[in-house]
Formats: sequence, C-alpha cells, structure tokens
Amino acid sequence: MKLPTVLIVLFLLGCTSAKDFAWNEWWKNTIIYQIYPRSFQDSDDDGVGDLQGITSRLSHFRDINVGCIWISPIFQSPFADFGYDVSDFTAIDPLFGTMEDFEELLATAKNLGIRVILDFVPNHSSDKHMWFNESAESRNYANAYRDYYMWQDPRAGCQLENPEECYPNNWVSVFGGPMWEWNENRQQFYLHQFLKEQPDLNLRNPIVQQNMKDAVAFWMEKGIDGYRLDAIYHSFEVPSLEDEPENPDYVKPINQTQEQYDSLIHTKTTRLPEVHTMLRDWRKTIFEPNSVESQDRYMFMVTEAYDPPEDLVEYYGTDEEAEADFPFNFQLISFLTEENLSGQTVYDLVNPVFVHLPEGRWPNWVVGNHDNFRISDRLGAKYVRAINTLNLLLPGTATTYYGEELGMENIYVSYEDTQDPFAKNNPCCWEEYTRDPERSPMQWDGQEKNAGFSNADETWLPVNENYQDGINVAEQKSDSSSTLNHYATLASMRTTTSAFQTNHLTYAMVDEDIFAFFRFPDEEDASDAVYLVAINFGDGPVTRNFVTAAENNGVDLPETGDIRISTGMDKNDQSADLTDLTLASGEALVIEVEASKLVEPTATLTPTPTPDGASQLGLSALLLVTSLVLFFSVRLF
Ligand code: NOJ
Ligand code: MG
Repeated sequence: MKLPTVLIVLFLLGCTSAKDFAWNEWWKNTIIYQIYPRSFQDSDDDGVGDLQGITSRLSHFRDINVGCIWISPIFQSPFADFGYDVSDFTAIDPLFGTMEDFEELLATAKNLGIRVILDFVPNHSSDKHMWFNESAESRNYANAYRDYYMWQDPRAGCQLENPEECYPNNWVSVFGGPMWEWNENRQQFYLHQFLKEQPDLNLRNPIVQQNMKDAVAFWMEKGIDGYRLDAIYHSFEVPSLEDEPENPDYVKPINQTQEQYDSLIHTKTTRLPEVHTMLRDWRKTIFEPNSVESQDRYMFMVTEAYDPPEDLVEYYGTDEEAEADFPFNFQLISFLTEENLSGQTVYDLVNPVFVHLPEGRWPNWVVGNHDNFRISDRLGAKYVRAINTLNLLLPGTATTYYGEELGMENIYVSYEDTQDPFAKNNPCCWEEYTRDPERSPMQWDGQEKNAGFSNADETWLPVNENYQDGINVAEQKSDSSSTLNHYATLASMRTTTSAFQTNHLTYAMVDEDIFAFFRFPDEEDASDAVYLVAINFGDGPVTRNFVTAAENNGVDLPETGDIRISTGMDKNDQSADLTDLTLASGEALVIEVEASKLVEPTATLTPTPTPDGASQLGLSALLLVTSLVLFFSVRLF
C-alpha cells in the first residue's frame, strides 16, 4: 500500500467519533509505553541511555499515537539491579542526568500532550541508601534509623560459622539464595526479598511509611501523572516469621548452586492484607490530594503483581476505598507460549479477565516488559503484529514495551557477558532467567552507529544487529506497510473510535486457529461504527464463515465488511466476504461491519467454538438463554 492510502485510512478513522473521557480517566484512552531508560537513547556517548536522550526522542510518541510513557527507575542507584535498587528516592542518578534534565523532559512531554509516569519501588532500597548505612550502624534505641529495615537475631544457640543453621527461617529470595544476609556490625541478619543489595524496608514502621509517602509526593509536585508501583505484593511478611511450605511441584535443577524461589510456596512473604491497607492509604493521602481537576492533573496508579485475574481484582480496591486504577494484567505475557498459541488459548486467557472484572472497572493488557522475553521470542516474529492488534484493540488500556512497535527481537548475551543479577545468581538456569535479551538498545536508524542509540564504541548491552535489516524506526517510518505503521494505525484507531473505547466485547469466533471479537460502541454512541477483529493464531492459512459464527454468538452480521486495518497493511481498502474469509497465519484483520446485536448483554461469557465456522444446531437458543440468565445475575460492566 502506498502512503496516500495510509493517509486515507487515518482520515477515515478521524471521521468516527471519540468518547469524552473525564479529566480523571485520561489513562483509559491511551497506551502506556514503557521506557527502560538505560536502553532508549544515549545523549552523552557513555553507552547508556539517559534523560536528555529520552527528551530528544519524545516526538516518536506523537508519531505512533502513544499518549503516556512509564519510565523505569531513574533515581540514584548503584545499579545492582539496574535502578530497582534505589539509594535516594528523591534524586536523579547522574548516569541519567540532572534534576533539570528531568524537569525539561516533563515540560517537553507536557507540550506534546504526553503523560509521564514513574516507577516507584516501595519494598526495598539499595544497601547503599543512607538509611541502611545508618540502620546498620547500631541497634541502640538512640539510633533513629534502627527500625528502618527488617533486622533479626540468629536462631538461638546456633553456630555463626555455619550461617545456614542460623537463618531465622527457611525463606528464599526471589533471585535465589536465603532471604537473610548477615551484617557484622549489628550482629544480625537483614531480610531481602530480592538481591542482598536490596534490603527490604520495614513498611510497618510509621516513620518509614511517611518517608516513602513524602518521596512519592515529591515527584507528583514536580508534575508527573502517576506511578507504576513495583513488586507490591512483596511489601510485608508475617511478623511470626513462620517457615514457608515446600512447593510439591518443584523439581530441583541439576547443578543448582543455591536454594531457588520456586522451591517454596510464598504464603508468609507475599500477598499479605497489609499490602491493600497501604495502597488504600496511599490512594487517599497522596494520590487523591495531588489530583486536581482544575489543573487537569489526575494521579494514576498501576500496581505490579503476577496474580491470576480472580486475585488481581483485589488491587482495584472497593468502591469506598480505591486502590490502583488497575493492576497490570500479565495473562498474555505469562501464559501464552509458542507451544500453546491458538485462538482457544487466547480466549482462555482473555475471558477470565472479563469474568472477574469488578463492575465499572477498566481492564488492561501487557504484552511485553523488561522482565520477560520479547513477543518475537516468546511466540515467533510472525505473530508480533497479531499480538499488537490484540493488545491495542481489546477493551482497556494497552501497555507496550519499547521496540515492540517495530518487532524488535531478543539479543543473545553469553553467561560471561551477562549483566542481569538474576541470571548471574542462578548459573544453573541462567538462560531461563536472564533479562538482558529483552533490554537491548532501541533501534532508531539502519544507517547510524549503534542504530542511532549511542555514539559510544561500546553500549551497555549490545545492539541487535538486525537494526540493519529493517528493524529500525527510520526505515519503518517511511514504509507504509511496516510493523511501525501498522502499530501507529491501530493506535490512532483506538483513540479516535468510540467502539474501541468501551470496556466490553462480544466474541465472534474462537477455535484452534481463530480468535475473533466484535467491538460495539456503548449504547449512547449506538450510531457509531462496529468492528470485527479477526486474528489467525494458527500456523497456516484458514478460511471461515464469520456470518454463521456471529449468529451463534448473538450477532447479525452482513455478508460483507470493509477492511480498515490488515496486518500486512495491503488489504486496508478492500471489501471482505465474511462468509468465506481467508486469514494467513499471524494475520489480523480489523473490519468495519454493519452488525447488530440479537441478544443482550453483548458480553458473551461462554464462547461458541465454531471449528471451520460450521453452524452448531441448538447453540443459538442455548446462547440466548445463557445470555438472559447472565443478564439478570451478573452485570459485569
Ligand atoms: C520488579 C521489577 O520489574 C524487576 O525488574 C525488579 O528486578 C524487581 N521488581 C525488584 O525490584
Ligand atoms: Mg548516557
């Protein structure tokens, strides 16, 4: 497709109406784009990305219709865990620049209409934080920092020459090895859920709580738009320090050098009710007071917790006591694999999110981050556009990890060159744990040194050589059929079209290959366009009758529709025969249709598997009854 066609499509999208989101709902109608600051853009030629680098690249977000960036930690840090070990919560690390650089980044983003959210790490600090140094100084009551961390005496009567006999209990840290580290000075152990360089803060201490809240408020006063709260369910441990039960499913790897996190079930160190008490308090005492309607400033909160949908909903809080605007939903990162990829698996991961979504709450999707392999390595490069389609067009807020809009791929880093402490700590299984592969520098240009990321001779992680083979922003920008232009077109559609701005969907077809859904506008926008999004997750082409399948799902679908966005960007202006539609492997079609609903509600909780689109006798009637029962018993939205 030639460039004018793209413009026509964008023009058409511009004609459909968008919903009016309230001032405190800006996060519903945008994409959160995660920047890993070490890897985005280097401005001072040291091979590591920085704030001036990010500022110089902000126009990229206008180009791809992204309205919000989340920046992984930029605070002062010795970088044992690359910034997730903070040694001063209210200072910018010199590696990234100065406070003025940050203020300039914020001002530039604001001018461009881009929201900025930061990453806050409440669970732990760095062991180089002044608080930790002071706390380790003595356990004397005169020491104001005495109870800032989780100090414990060794087990009574144990021999300190054999520290393993002395650990207060059997707890194991996330990155491997005991959760306890001996401190000579205090003659005590301290607890660390992650690295020993990341001592856990004692969040039960009201003074620590106040310090953390002050730090959270500090950046809000600078003008940020909210936070991603890191590792939130690790914030508290049971005071009794009881052992954790062993995991019966755990298989000890050969050559394992130390205890592994998965060997235990974390009933005593994660998901304690105190986590929610803290979030409710933070919402009420920091996030709400710093949200000011007259300044169009609403403080958004998203939490990180790898929980199934039924447990995750707790992070929304209650109507009376709100917590996060949403907890990150990792279903599609954690459970969709190259081996199980199918329309049915996608349905099995998507549907529970809607089943458990509390009334009036907003869903969200995450398909990549700095802790997981890239889409192309988890599922295969040919599915990147399909996953971007799913991420951007399912109901709710989408989160995109930098580079996924280009289809960036993992890099290989040998064990000797590995930077990630999680991998270094677990030599037995480092290839499984390493997070270096997905953290390689952003690929801006096919001609420039280091893909335009840095002028340094060596970058902190190698640049993927495929930047010279079309995986870079500059080339993809000028190619109307590129992954980047596909992404930008989807992103434009989701922000300008009312059907993509609701929190409900209707399934159209689910089978081994196909996952297809309708997006209907809300009732008040009923005259706006309806869309059918059909994706083939199978490994070969398939042909389906979507009209029969739609009918089975309570939707009257005409025989033809207008393709608005195709993954190859080559069918964007074509008409589609919906009774006989062929989709290539990895192909996703966004089709405008004149569909109407036969039954209410439209959120069909049980899909109608329609292998080969075959009509299933009696299924429509069953569906009608099920829908009516559901309508009166569970109002989801
Ligand atoms: C979760 C972060 O995403 C991860 O990168 C980090 O290592 C841990 N929290 C510890 O802060
Ligand atoms: Mg730099």
